[in-house]
Amino acid sequence: MYRIVAMQTLAPQTKLIEIYAPEIVAKAHAGQFVILRVDEEGERIPLTLADWKPEANTITLIFQEVGVSTIKLGSLNVNEELCDVVGPLGNPTDVRNYGTVVIVGGGVGIAPCLPITKAFKKTGSRVISIIGARNEKLLILEREMRCICDEVHISTDDGSKGHKGFVSDVLNILIKKGYSIDIVYAIGPSVMMRAIAETTRPHKIKTVVSLNPIMVDGMGMCGACRVSVGGKVKFACVDGPEFDAHQVDFDQLIKRQRAFLAEERTALEHWEKCRGN
Ligand SMILES: Cc1cc2nc3c(=O)[nH]c(=O)nc-3n(C[C@H](O)[C@H](O)[C@H](O)COP(=O)(O)OP(=O)(O)OC[C@H]3O[C@@H](n4cnc5c(N)ncnc54)[C@H](O)[C@@H]3O)c2cc1C
Ligand code: FES
Repeated sequence: MYRIVAMQTLAPQTKLIEIYAPEIVAKAHAGQFVILRVDEEGERIPLTLADWKPEANTITLIFQEVGVSTIKLGSLNVNEELCDVVGPLGNPTDVRNYGTVVIVGGGVGIAPCLPITKAFKKTGSRVISIIGARNEKLLILEREMRCICDEVHISTDDGSKGHKGFVSDVLNILIKKGYSIDIVYAIGPSVMMRAIAETTRPHKIKTVVSLNPIMVDGMGMCGACRVSVGGKVKFACVDGPEFDAHQVDFDQLIKRQRAFLAEERTALEHWEKCRGN
């Protein structure tokens, strides 16, 4: 069983959970994820490692409460136990000294950027981050990113903090200012990652994204997470989750992510009715 060691609210509908999981800590690398279930009847929830602490044998996950399973997860308390946590899954980030790395995180996507940013900094790379959210209240991990990065740029859709607009606008400004960028890593909503890919494509800047299609087994057997990369079918769980952004068919990814919207809405309404909300 996997005991919850900490549960903290970072922003509206955004929580941090720390779980005792020594066998996952022993093998964890930046860019990898776990799949957990809250209880025996629970859905499998893929979440990326935001941190891990070898001294405490814990992993840290940061998640947004968007539907039944993540709301159920967020309603748990310290010392309660999760039914299972499988991982680490997926391929680690290809970490090496590229020169100047720009890490772009949008919304809860800033969380998986944290270990990747730390890993790149350790290689001696110059690390610039661009983090953004819909508004200031939803912006997470600014302090942590400032402790690691050489530069941190911020954007909010409503202009309540930093540049008013999108993270892709900020990246465009840096490119136009003449920043020499060797590689861009982007994690966030698929529309954001698509915008980043289109920003860097004309400048031929190598760009990597971490994809989050619907996953079930996370081990390459069910095919739920298939994505099209460079015209070939890839399984994000075993071939990714990181891919060359300029090769990803984002339109197909976004369509597949929305495939069960009606069912997800019905499940949430039903669950809220049962809870008496
Ligand atoms: C590799 C990977 C890493 C992820 N890391 C994070 C993370 O660090 N933090 C975070 O907040 N979210 C992360 N997600 C997304 C997270 O898994 C979904 O938000 C969660 O499963 C939604 O479940 P739900 O029942 O609460 O919502 P639902 O109402 O069931 O679904 C809401 C939306 O979440 C997505 N979703 C639903 N089920 C799945 C599933 N089995 N797999 C993937 N997406 C699904 C769909 O786009 C859906 O429209 C990650 C997804 C993947 C594939
Ligand atoms: S989640 Fe089943 S093949 Fe990737």
